[in-house]
Amino acid sequence: MTWTTRRAVLGSALALAACGKQANSQPIPGPVPPLKSLAPFPMGTCLQARFLDDPTWTTLAADHFSQLTAEWEMKMEYIAKPDGGFQFDRADRIADFAGRNGMRLFGHALVWYANEPDAFKNLDETRQAFGRAYDNYITAVVGRYRGRASGWDVVNEPILDDGSGLRQSLWSRRLGEIDHIRRALDTARAADPDAVLFINDYNLESRPAKLAAYQRLIEKLLAAGAPLGGIGCQTHTESELPPGSIARTLTDLARFGLPLHVSEMDVSLVQGGPFANKDLARQRQGELYAEAAAAFAALPAAQQFAFTVWGVRDGDSWLARENRADAPLLFDDAGRAKASFSALAAALRR
Ligand code: G3I
Repeated sequence: MTWTTRRAVLGSALALAACGKQANSQPIPGPVPPLKSLAPFPMGTCLQARFLDDPTWTTLAADHFSQLTAEWEMKMEYIAKPDGGFQFDRADRIADFAGRNGMRLFGHALVWYANEPDAFKNLDETRQAFGRAYDNYITAVVGRYRGRASGWDVVNEPILDDGSGLRQSLWSRRLGEIDHIRRALDTARAADPDAVLFINDYNLESRPAKLAAYQRLIEKLLAAGAPLGGIGCQTHTESELPPGSIARTLTDLARFGLPLHVSEMDVSLVQGGPFANKDLARQRQGELYAEAAAAFAALPAAQQFAFTVWGVRDGDSWLARENRADAPLLFDDAGRAKASFSALAAALRR
């Protein structure tokens, strides 16, 4: 999903690896305040069900975060089985953990161009039959977590990376380019009248054309009376992102008056090109977390849905799975708070 070439990432990794992963750790000394106690809005993170077997993870998550997003096990790729059945075992486990720990559950993601399960691809009947299966899936998933999921990413990543329009997908081809989005929102609304219904996308802070196209989609959906209740800004960034980009993006998106969700923030130290200077990259990482937190905290309270960091420990991150030398999050592999944590915490205290 990122624009970085694998060669640049590899080159950076070799440079960074030479510095040693531990060099990126830099745990902060002294007591670490619970992050969620510093923010007037929900602080979220993501998880896989298997993390619930790791007491270090569960303790960190319950101490610091007040909202959970399933990283992949509430998506079609896990729930929709090839035979057309649904499997909710891991999503239920995540929902139960959130409930037991007084944490909000955020549903991610109902419809996504990157998930085109065989159960749907093999439906070569009429559009009506495909539409019924689409509605049935959304109704089953949203209905199952009604009253537990505070909101849903109803359609994930609908905009082409170059901002030239809407992505094509199995969903758009079978049910219409914008109609499939409207249909998913209406169906989710019918299944849960209270959940906040989002669209969600990435690279909005680094690609002005994509941000503009995202805003045009939002305008169209709102003008058509779609039950769009929130705007997701994933905020997967890297340390070279120019200062002010995140703040400007949140300000632009806030003009619709809807709740915003910084839904998947991380700051790669490796992606985005040749690794310049690890100390500078780490400093910029903290500055970007602080910028995002400060800009989010400056929003009207009614528009502060949640601020979600895409993972707890560096080693839990999808970026670390792509490149073990990356250290994109707030806690190191041992679960110790890093300088990025301090920078974000300081921004929340202001
Ligand atoms: O855990 C299984 C493992 O048991 C199995 O051997 C392996 C191979 O099949 O798969 C493992 O599950 C993978 C899972 O990540 C955990 O690593 C899934 O296949 C894989 O699809 C899943 O990838 C997730 C990806 O979305 C696709 O769903 C990433 O974790 C997750 O971080 C990433 O998150 C996306 C957001 O949803 C949307 N925005 C971008 C973001 C990053 O790409």
